[in-house]
Amino acid sequence: MVSLEFFKAEDFAGVNYILDETQLRFTASAEQALRNIQNRDDTDAFPVTIFEDDKPAGFFVLDFGQDKLELTKNKDAVLLRSLSVNPQMQGKGIGKKAMQKVDDFVKENFKNCTEIVLAVNQKNNSAYRIYLQTGYIDEGKTRIGRSGPQHLMYKKL
Ligand SMILES: CC(C)(COP(=O)(O)OP(=O)(O)OC[C@H]1O[C@@H](n2cnc3c(N)ncnc32)[C@H](O)[C@@H]1OP(=O)(O)O)[C@@H](O)C(=O)NCCC(=O)NCCS
Repeated sequence: MVSLEFFKAEDFAGVNYILDETQLRFTASAEQALRNIQNRDDTDAFPVTIFEDDKPAGFFVLDFGQDKLELTKNKDAVLLRSLSVNPQMQGKGIGKKAMQKVDDFVKENFKNCTEIVLAVNQKNNSAYRIYLQTGYIDEGKTRIGRSGPQHLMYKKL
């Protein structure tokens, strides 16, 4: 069963998997994302571990900082970023289930949050499909990201 928990130091070994060059164009590794949060002394960003049963299988960050305002005017939105699933466990439905569960996770832990926003590279078909399948809306807004054009998507909670 897939579940979500706030990242704990003991999860690090389980989320410190290696993504290949192609996948690293689309997301930050957990290590990099955690380092960014630490370097900025960022108290607005919350790393989350995706568990498959008792085993860490993936990672993402819920970022309430200013970066979200590039995607929305809603101050009560959160930016979902740096999503990845361990390459050895990809293709088993874990990413999709995690994206189905993130709504309740956000509602439970951040009562004032009313929207999740995200950006996905236009070449990242599997991630884009997961977001569409889990209720994210693409109204055709785009921006140029680190590795080219991205779809900007949102989901109201
Ligand atoms: C995107 C990512 C998180 C998806 O996680 P996942 O657990 O592998 O995804 P799922 O198993 O839930 O698959 C969801 C869909 O994508 C398809 N899919 C997943 N991996 C695939 C692969 N390697 N090849 C083909 N299709 C794939 C599945 O068939 C499924 O489609 P379906 O529901 O229509 O059958 C994972 O591939 C990943 O970590 N990628 C690298 C980082 C990244 O791109 N992050 C997203 C940044 S926006």
